[in-house]
Amino acid sequence: MTTDLKEQKQTADTASITFNGKSVSLPVVRGTEAETAIDIEKLRSSTGLITIDPGYGNTGSCKSAITFIDGEKGILRYRGYPIEELAAKSTFLEVAWLLIHGELPTKDELGGFTKDVTIHTMLHQDFGRFFDALPKDAHPMPVCAAAVGALATYYQKPESDQQAHDTIIRLIAKMPTIAAYSYKHSIGQPFIYPQNRLGYTENFLNMMFSVPCDTYEVDPVLARTVDLLLILHADHEQNCSTSTVRMVGSSMANLYASIAAGISALWGPLHGGANQQVIEMLERIAAEEGSADRFLAKAKDKNDTARLMGFGHRVYKSYDPRAAILKKACNQVIERVGVSSRLLEIAMNLEEIALKDDYFVSRKLYPNVDFYSGVIYQALGIPVNMFTVMFTLGRLPGWIAQWLEMRRDKDFRISRPRQIYVGSPKRPYVPLAARG
Ligand code: SDX
Repeated sequence: MTTDLKEQKQTADTASITFNGKSVSLPVVRGTEAETAIDIEKLRSSTGLITIDPGYGNTGSCKSAITFIDGEKGILRYRGYPIEELAAKSTFLEVAWLLIHGELPTKDELGGFTKDVTIHTMLHQDFGRFFDALPKDAHPMPVCAAAVGALATYYQKPESDQQAHDTIIRLIAKMPTIAAYSYKHSIGQPFIYPQNRLGYTENFLNMMFSVPCDTYEVDPVLARTVDLLLILHADHEQNCSTSTVRMVGSSMANLYASIAAGISALWGPLHGGANQQVIEMLERIAAEEGSADRFLAKAKDKNDTARLMGFGHRVYKSYDPRAAILKKACNQVIERVGVSSRLLEIAMNLEEIALKDDYFVSRKLYPNVDFYSGVIYQALGIPVNMFTVMFTLGRLPGWIAQWLEMRRDKDFRISRPRQIYVGSPKRPYVPLAARG
């Protein structure tokens, strides 16, 4: 698995910091696309200073060769390949291989990988009881996080490279099964076993929607749409959940534990949970005629916590290229499935109004990946509380690739940020009797 980081060009550039009469010259690192960063490794030892950057908006946590985003230009590439090309020409398993191994697979590599994944889709028979212990109305995201963490109890061999390979196959193979089982458990239907005769996304749709008492034919156009959705979600450099996977993995916790933590971080409504929030927002607007303008006024009101969900991004200060691809795909799916496009109309109307409104334009707030994905999931018949589970299925190979890159980085060390203490100065203990 080639996850080596090419030696970054150390530039002759340096950045100087002068403080309290002391000056230090720090090296400037330049990436493939001329992004530049000050390497502050020696800052504290030379000046006693640390840096502070709430939310890490200006802080690079690592050098990575996996995904490149240019937020100003709306560029997204996996291992150098533009997302638009991969979305149009590739498949999810091929993209998973690309992210993890760094190169597009040969025919044999893809065939072997597909076979390995296909024959590992089943869960251990005892695992079915895991779901029975959970309430039917449990949100599927904590169910998936707990199930992935529990997978480690079935595969306990110490981590070797071969073990890492087996773990990667098991996670990519079993995640759709865990997702579908969490859905079936919530609606009181029997689990549908994976079928080796089906492709990756066909298998998932079959496990989700097939029932023992009837036949269910997977629509190939809808299966291809799910494949597209998974490709678009597959990686996104150092976002919140990926940084969580790296952080947990840096303590030498195993891959199952690291991915389980990533699933929990993704669930947050400001991150992967936004796709569910978008649909709930669109449905509220659909229920209250003409409330789009009222909703936008709330989203702009500093005293109101409402946000235009699916809009804005820490990195994209232009249109998220994934949202553009999904917006186009919406119409195709809605036509194919023949459902009403009321929510799509509302979403497109909101986008049109927002992109002419100075509040959003001045803050460079554009639709992100979550703004249109929910409309497609709903047209596919995926229940709203499963939307972030779909995001999890897509992001899994990206998390794995980032975890491997972190573990194999020659500068690998446990992540442990510092802080600036702003609490009480030293003070003596006060006995209970004297506290009144
Ligand atoms: C994902 O990081 C990734 O790569 C994530 C992701 C991935 O693939 O992994 O792309 C997936 O998480 C997409 C984002 C999904 N979340 C949402 O759609 C939730 C709504 N969006 C926002 O909450 C917000 O835009 C964030 C969380 C996405 C980004 O937050 P930032 O970078 O911390 O920006 P901010 O909150 O500092 O906002 C800057 C300004 C603020 O106003 P002012 O203080 O300048 O007056 O813009 C405002 C914010 O109030 N603002 C919004 C808004 N998003 C930002 N106002 C109304 N509606 C919004 N959606």
